[in-house]
Amino acid sequence: MATSVKTIALCGIDGQIVDVQIHIGTGLVAFNIVGLPDGAVRESKERIRAAFSSLGFSLPAKRITVNLAPADLAKVGSHYDLPIAVGILSALGAVPESVLQDALFMGELSLDGCLTPTAGVLPASIAAHTHGLKSIFCPKANAKEAAWADIQAFGVTDLKTLMGHFKGDSALTPEAATLIEEDSSNRLDFADVKGQKQARRAAEIAAAGGHNMLMCGPPGAGKSMIAKRIPSILPPLNSKEALEATMLYSVSGLLGKEGLVKQRPFREPHHSTSHVAMSGGGHKAKPGEMSLAHNGVLFLDELPEFQRQVLETLRQPIETGHITVARANAHVQYPARFQLIAAMNPSPCGYLGHPHIPCTSTPQQIQKYRAKISGPLLDRMDLYIELPVLCAQELTSQEKSESSAEILQRVLKARALQEARYKGKASCNAAAPDDLLQQHTQLCPKGEDMMKRAIEKFHLSGRGYFRTLRLARSIADLDASGTILPQHIAEALSYRYQPYKG
Ligand SMILES: Nc1ncnc2c1ncn2[C@@H]1O[C@H](COP(=O)(O)OP(=O)(O)O)[C@@H](O)[C@H]1O
Ligand SMILES: [Mg+2]
Repeated sequence: MATSVKTIALCGIDGQIVDVQIHIGTGLVAFNIVGLPDGAVRESKERIRAAFSSLGFSLPAKRITVNLAPADLAKVGSHYDLPIAVGILSALGAVPESVLQDALFMGELSLDGCLTPTAGVLPASIAAHTHGLKSIFCPKANAKEAAWADIQAFGVTDLKTLMGHFKGDSALTPEAATLIEEDSSNRLDFADVKGQKQARRAAEIAAAGGHNMLMCGPPGAGKSMIAKRIPSILPPLNSKEALEATMLYSVSGLLGKEGLVKQRPFREPHHSTSHVAMSGGGHKAKPGEMSLAHNGVLFLDELPEFQRQVLETLRQPIETGHITVARANAHVQYPARFQLIAAMNPSPCGYLGHPHIPCTSTPQQIQKYRAKISGPLLDRMDLYIELPVLCAQELTSQEKSESSAEILQRVLKARALQEARYKGKASCNAAAPDDLLQQHTQLCPKGEDMMKRAIEKFHLSGRGYFRTLRLARSIADLDASGTILPQHIAEALSYRYQPYKG
């Protein structure tokens, strides 16, 4: 009879239950792991051997076979150590088999028998709950995230403590889930941004409707400053959004001590970022920057400096809100609904259009620089804004600008209108599908006429039309206006990138 212990195999953020079957029999002394294990899983026997000796145990001089079922599913990662070790202990009679029935085990062992933090504990505990299991045993450092699923989450420091728990010597207590309380301390504030009225207004609209924004301006105008302050005017994460983000950070192994993503993600990858780091993939098909920015902001500073191939990968997730990552033998889908905020200089030297400093870039250099950002990507930028150079009076002024808290109040009112409008079908105007948007968009006859003229004058694409409409909807929401009025459309149109202007 083989002993069986349950664990998990991760496919993106979906977990599949894996049955770890242990057979200890007679024959040549060996320790074999079968069932498509990868390198890290095969090496687990060495960690288990060492961890056992820390308990004062040694592996029996018998033929140990570990089968990871289903055998045709690739097993990747180091979290199979704990279920294999527990299975062997049970087969040896040191752990009663009855305690393994309704539990899931995952964790990596160090040589002294301690459990080290592992990635993907939240998806594992959710899968365990879905399969009707009652508890999960995982490394202590991951127990808080495990507690998010409606299941008993036991944090284990080392193998010895776990044995003590099963013997009834020192029972472990299940971890309680932490409450979502946003930590807004050390947030950057819009009160520090001097001048730049138009860019501040654009940032407010972007926050109100979740729109993408591209800022263009000379060095030191405040582009990065504004972008970094956008999270301070976005609504706090709701529990569904927090859980989604936590899942992605969990499989990436990036969750902090609290085991929960509490703040809206803000990702700021460097322009040398590779295609794989941006979209996800690699050996373990981990989520990329676009997925780590899910439900938050993806800030790309110095946009034209990114590789063109990297920028093009943004296009599809901007439309669909998810990205499919190909692995050798599987496709993994990760959510990636992010708000894209980007910044660029007007020319490679940075001073094109500067009132005092001459631009030293040649027309060819400027053209090459700008051509890095393709038309389809520009078409997806809802707000294009040019920042002027700050004047001496603005720079030296001691007056504080309007604070983030004040702007946030207006954004929250606009978001409440969107929530009531879409009733859970979309989180904000930017995420509303075209048909849903049209159902809820009333234009007055003058506004309709204006839109028609704009399509002809600015050669708006189909996407451009709907994006302008969405933006106008957000501007009207900030105005608490049910109908989209001509002034809302006019303002929305003023933010569209016009190629002949640039
Ligand atoms: N509008 C502004 N208000 C206040 N300080 C500013 C402003 N613009 C730039 N600065 C100062 O200059 C620094 C660089 O600004 P930054 O936002 O990085 O410029 P950019 O990204 O446009 O090149 C900021 O850290 C800040 O100290
Ligand atoms: Mg900058």
